[in-house]
Amino acid sequence: MTRLKNFIREMTILADSHADDEEKMLDGGQASLAALLAEDNWLPEEFARPDEGRYMQYLLHCDPLERFSVVSFVWAPGQMTPVHDHLTWGLIGMLRGAEESERYAPGSPPTLIDTQRLNPGEIEQVSPRLGDIHRVRNAFDDRVSISIHVYGGNIGTLERQSFDLASGTCKAFISGYANSSLPNIWGR
Ligand SMILES: [Fe+2]
Repeated sequence: MTRLKNFIREMTILADSHADDEEKMLDGGQASLAALLAEDNWLPEEFARPDEGRYMQYLLHCDPLERFSVVSFVWAPGQMTPVHDHLTWGLIGMLRGAEESERYAPGSPPTLIDTQRLNPGEIEQVSPRLGDIHRVRNAFDDRVSISIHVYGGNIGTLERQSFDLASGTCKAFISGYANSSLPNIWGR
């Protein structure tokens, strides 16, 4: 738990000085997230559990001032998100397995820009400034993948949009979280 606790501490200190500076939050947050991802030995099993019906979003921590939140995304084989936006900055860091991320340009419907593969330790940035629309999927059809995401707000409570590429329509959604209790970061 020390690794997660230290990450939350660093993000909190960063937010105290730079919460309104997206670039500093992304760059500082990425350095701290890279350290968190350097070892895959800290995520408690209950926040790493897949569900066959849907990909899981477990809240690991939300800043009390809602300046950032930390979420584990757990993908069963073959699972994917809809094409969606975030409306805030975000860091997507690979912990276990691999993901494919399709980036889209805004439009009706959004159009595919490129596809990136994220391997363990690698981090992608999203934001309305950098490009905010994507679809993420488990790169594997035969194993679970897990990524750790950090967002510039309480992401599970924010109203965002998902896009249907075939019809060109969009729909508001609020993702919520799959868990009702948080990890004990103090480990005792
Ligand atoms: Fe996303």
